[in-house]
Amino acid sequence: TRQMAVPTAPMGWASWNSFASKIDYSVIKAQVDAFVAAGLPAAGYKYINIDEGWWQGTRDSAGNITVDTSEWPGGMSAIADYIHSKGLKAGIYTDAGANGCGYYYPTGRPAAANTGSEGHYDQDMLQFSQWGFDFVKVDWCGGDAEGLDAATAYKALSASVTKATASTGRALTLSICNWGYQNPWNWAPGLAPMYRTSTDIIYYGNSPSTTNMLSNFDQGLHPAAQHTGYYNDPDMLMVGMTGLTAAQNRTHMALWAISGAPLLAGNDLTTLTTETTGILTNPEVIAVDQDARGLQGVKVAEDTTGLQVYGKVLSGLGNRAVTLLNRTSAAQNITVRWSDLGLTTASATVRDLWSRANIGSYGTSYTASVPAGGSVFLKISGGTEAASTNYTATSTGKYT
Ligand code: GLA
Repeated sequence: TRQMAVPTAPMGWASWNSFASKIDYSVIKAQVDAFVAAGLPAAGYKYINIDEGWWQGTRDSAGNITVDTSEWPGGMSAIADYIHSKGLKAGIYTDAGANGCGYYYPTGRPAAANTGSEGHYDQDMLQFSQWGFDFVKVDWCGGDAEGLDAATAYKALSASVTKATASTGRALTLSICNWGYQNPWNWAPGLAPMYRTSTDIIYYGNSPSTTNMLSNFDQGLHPAAQHTGYYNDPDMLMVGMTGLTAAQNRTHMALWAISGAPLLAGNDLTTLTTETTGILTNPEVIAVDQDARGLQGVKVAEDTTGLQVYGKVLSGLGNRAVTLLNRTSAAQNITVRWSDLGLTTASATVRDLWSRANIGSYGTSYTASVPAGGSVFLKISGGTEAASTNYTATSTGKYT
């Protein structure tokens, strides 16, 4: 039985979903200020991640990255310093190949060539760490175009990140972003605490899509890989972006939380509503995501196609998070059975995580009416563990 706590999935905000390449010092500073004003740090969010668009692909004669100081006065260390001045951690972005994504997909992105770190892994990771960054997302557009082997490239990057950390004394965290290509769940755990499992949840200029949200959730479920502090990453959150209803935002959070996914908000924080803040910061929802056991939820039942029950083993004994997900177009009842959660038939308390209120005690199962396309997010506690549950998730199904 695995009882040890592991590092939990990173939480923060990233610039890509709302700003694409339209970022500079003042854009990021405004987000930092709004992030703090909204109380996100108290809820556990700590990273401010600068995504693609900060670098135009130039280097000096020694190969060191040069930065456009008209956009980034004081260079990248100035924005990292500002982020740190708020008690937060700073993230930056590069590509494993020679060119970043903007070179291949210029719409809404910088079209500059050479915004990748190929041939400069040690040098660039050290540079990021020396500038003060704590996190680096390494994308794969160049690597993919060049036909590189992802496991080999990211292994080298991971080694460079370790060297940079040793050199500066500042922990640099690697985020692998090769979109599920070459099955990173088979090789990324051990190299980086998070690795993307699918393509982008939203492309620049598009409206948020719940189809993409559900598809990224499905593609992010590799529970056998996620059990030692390494996290499947179904991509940044669209919660709070224009076009999603409050119910859709709650389902998005509930699915990321039951996955134990990294929670990187991607909305424009300067236009945050009270409702969105409440969804992003609900402490009981965050607690499911950040549970110390670090397990991923699994689908434990789908008696009728589209009426799904996901269960996640939480710390302590007899505790589970449950998402009832209705993927059909009509309201339906969905039942979660204790036996499918590895609990015996004995009284357990059912709590609604969004309203943060107990619903009652139930002995064998609980049934809720779930709106069309919607979800119910529950915590089951005080249940009795079935004998010899060791919480090893299988790749396709329940814990054994
Ligand atoms: C890729 C990544 C995205 C984002 C963009 C930037 O598409 O998957 O998350 O970083 O590149 O261009």
